[in-house]
Amino acid sequence: SRVVKLAVIAGDGIGPEVIAEAEKVLDAVTADTDVTFDKTRFSLGADRFLATGDVLTDDDLQAIASHDAILLGAVGGTPNDPRLANANIERGLLLKLRFSLDHYVNLRPSKLYPSVPGPLKNPGEVDFVVVREGTEGSYVGNGGVLRQGTEHEIANELGVNTAHGVRRVVEYAFELAETRRKKLTLVHKTNVMVNAGKLWKRIFDETSEKHPEVAVDYMHIDAATIHMVDNPSRFDVIVTDNLFGDILTDLAGAITGGIGLAASGNLNPSGEFPSMFEPVHGSAPDIAGQQKADPTAAIGSIALLLEHLGLSAESQRVTRAIEQDIAERTDAPRTTAQIGDAIAARLTA
Ligand code: NAD
Ligand code: IPM
Ligand code: MN
Repeated sequence: SRVVKLAVIAGDGIGPEVIAEAEKVLDAVTADTDVTFDKTRFSLGADRFLATGDVLTDDDLQAIASHDAILLGAVGGTPNDPRLANANIERGLLLKLRFSLDHYVNLRPSKLYPSVPGPLKNPGEVDFVVVREGTEGSYVGNGGVLRQGTEHEIANELGVNTAHGVRRVVEYAFELAETRRKKLTLVHKTNVMVNAGKLWKRIFDETSEKHPEVAVDYMHIDAATIHMVDNPSRFDVIVTDNLFGDILTDLAGAITGGIGLAASGNLNPSGEFPSMFEPVHGSAPDIAGQQKADPTAAIGSIALLLEHLGLSAESQRVTRAIEQDIAERTDAPRTTAQIGDAIAARLTA
């Protein structure tokens, strides 16, 4: 029998509510298998900061890194909470984990299920994956502020793109496209971000030569948002940088039934460090503690976790249970726990 060491960071706001349901589903799908998940819970996020002043200690990071995988709900408090003004939970916790554990592939699949009401009139068949770079770009935190507080204040955020960093994520995207409909779109802003743009385009073209069976095209990020709304079925795999990928995947969530359905994996494909699975959404302070959050995105992240661990059959069972639940949804409201129970029940039946 196999034991998987899973670090669980439920986090803030709706995080604990959706993670409770994700764990229910994980327990249900592994109940009759010889795989056991040995879970360690880490109390991290805004609540931990308010209680102790810590965001992520070196001990926390080391302990988390010693696990096989990580499940994360969401972290971050109410955006305008003055007590959190200097905490910077998002950088100090979420991004620190992604960077330290070298999560260079941020995998964000989007699929529109036939029964799901979406904002698009004629969406067609929508089934694409955004491969978002996870460790570079304007997320690195280089830069700084000069002449602070004066009328001549200068605030700089410097984007960093390395050949190594671009090549490995582009290579991953080509390999993923080979397992799918064999179409890969590079999204960037090469007309304005010319330095990074040239690097991305050159490496994309070079890598393309090694994968002649994958059809490629290029789009500027602004145009990509138009195409994602007008003709989303044209996309198979999209590869893009950290910031463009962040924005594009909230849009992708919105056109495929809402952010409550969007799952993601922060992958370290080499397996040197544990990968981390989390819904694309945040802690949603506006609905926290009310059992209003849709746990489907967190449960979908369980499917991605299982697939990453090589437990494909279990992953497919979770995906099928989600699909069946979605297909039978009505307008009748359900609590977070009711949705989790219904999906888990399909796995034990
Ligand atoms: P958000 O994703 O938390 O919420 C945006 C909107 O979507 C809100 O109206 C919310 O109610 C709704 N929503 C989100 N998840 C939902 C779900 N599962 N079911 C139903 N509705 C849902 O984004 P925000 O308001 O910009 O951010 C809130 C906090 O979360 C901030 O502190 C932000 O930094 C943080 N955040 C964390 C993560 C993460 O931990 N991975 C991701 C994004 C934002
Ligand atoms: C996401 C979030 C994070 C990001 C924030 C909270 C740092 O928006 O996971 O999409 O920008 O990557
Ligand atoms: Mn985001």
